[in-house]
Amino acid sequence: MSDWKIQRAPTIQTELEVPGDKSISHRAVILAALSNGTCVLRGFLPSEDCLCTVAAMRALGIQIEAADETTLIVHGKRRVLTAPRRDIDCGNSGTTMRLLAGLLAGQPFRSRLIGDPSLSRRPMRRVIEPLAQMGAKITAEGKDGRPPLVIEGGSLQPIDYISPVASAQVKSAVLLAGMFARGRTSVTEPTQSRDHTERMLEYFLIRPQKTDLTVAIHGGQTPESRDFQIPGDISSAAFWMVAAAAQPRSHLLIKNVGLNESRTGVLAVLVRMGVQVREIVENEEAEPIGTVEVRGARLKGTEIGGKEIPNVIDELPVLAVAAALATGRTVISNAGELRVKETDRLAAIATNLRAMGAQVQESEDGLAISGGVPLHGARVDSFGDHRIAMAFAIAGLFAEGETIITNTDCVATSYPGFYSTLDQIVKVPPGPQTPVITSLPS
Ligand code: S3P
Repeated sequence: MSDWKIQRAPTIQTELEVPGDKSISHRAVILAALSNGTCVLRGFLPSEDCLCTVAAMRALGIQIEAADETTLIVHGKRRVLTAPRRDIDCGNSGTTMRLLAGLLAGQPFRSRLIGDPSLSRRPMRRVIEPLAQMGAKITAEGKDGRPPLVIEGGSLQPIDYISPVASAQVKSAVLLAGMFARGRTSVTEPTQSRDHTERMLEYFLIRPQKTDLTVAIHGGQTPESRDFQIPGDISSAAFWMVAAAAQPRSHLLIKNVGLNESRTGVLAVLVRMGVQVREIVENEEAEPIGTVEVRGARLKGTEIGGKEIPNVIDELPVLAVAAALATGRTVISNAGELRVKETDRLAAIATNLRAMGAQVQESEDGLAISGGVPLHGARVDSFGDHRIAMAFAIAGLFAEGETIITNTDCVATSYPGFYSTLDQIVKVPPGPQTPVITSLPS
């Protein structure tokens, strides 16, 4: 298992792109596989999580070729899948397991979904319950509804599901099952979660009906095959945004990044923290894609909670690092979902920030961080969680002395090139040699 050594970094002046969006990559592969022809997916994220979804769809009889690392050619088979010969390994990927549970609930065969030790600890009742209401037979072999999942697929009835959690994974599982149910299936969530599935269904001409917090689809429709451009992942971009945001003379441009409003909460939080952030949407077909510009500032504390949480859920680890670098107090609340991610992220953030000298109080569903105390280097663990590893690599750029992040292999699940980008960014010497980067028009 590899460790990273991180040193305090110079001011960041750079322009970069981030790899494809993880959530969108999973969904594009699944919907293309169900479509009536060949779809070319460009900008695919070749991370371990998304490759688990590719392997799963191949195991279900779908031919998928990689024209290059980020371009997949998916040969849709008009909703026809074949029984897998062995267990489907979802690795570390909650999205793969929950979306596939929805998809497989309506197939006329048995499948078994397994995962790594982290995924095997994650709650699956949230998808089992609605799918069971639709008539699916799903058994969780782990304790309290935890994986492995055995799915005896079959015919499904439509439901109107009121979800107790704002979870795009739950919403997507029900909608995928709804594609195979007779009649109209709807999902209503307590707060808007990311809407990539709805957008992609629309792009593939399935015509979901959206009203406020409800999405409905009619079963029996086949997606029309179309090529798809996957934008850069704003959750990956968030690490560089915070690295630039917390240094007053930094200037960062991130190009070709996804700017879906259900994902851009991180920009709003940074603005509240005093950062100059601008975004320009340059292209909007299935998903808005554009450029984000960040100019560093002296950060100030803020409150993050309520309806905003689903929109920043994956960015909270690095926003907590920003909070530690800000003056004043930041309170993160209503974020209990972080306890059931790849690790208990609230506990991991609190442990690691404290190890680096920050003042943090942990509550059941959040954190209170009293920022502005200089961070010092420390040896901190990723807890096997990619976003904890990357968030603390960013913290290390601001700490006095050396920071060691242990157990960083997990980063390959969402951002395989993270460390080499970090290395390039910190090697650029500040001063006259700094490359001049363009700015967004004001
Ligand atoms: C995801 C949704 C979010 C997010 C996860 C990816 C998705 O989880 O945290 O990284 O692709 O649907 P929940 O929907 O369970 O909150």
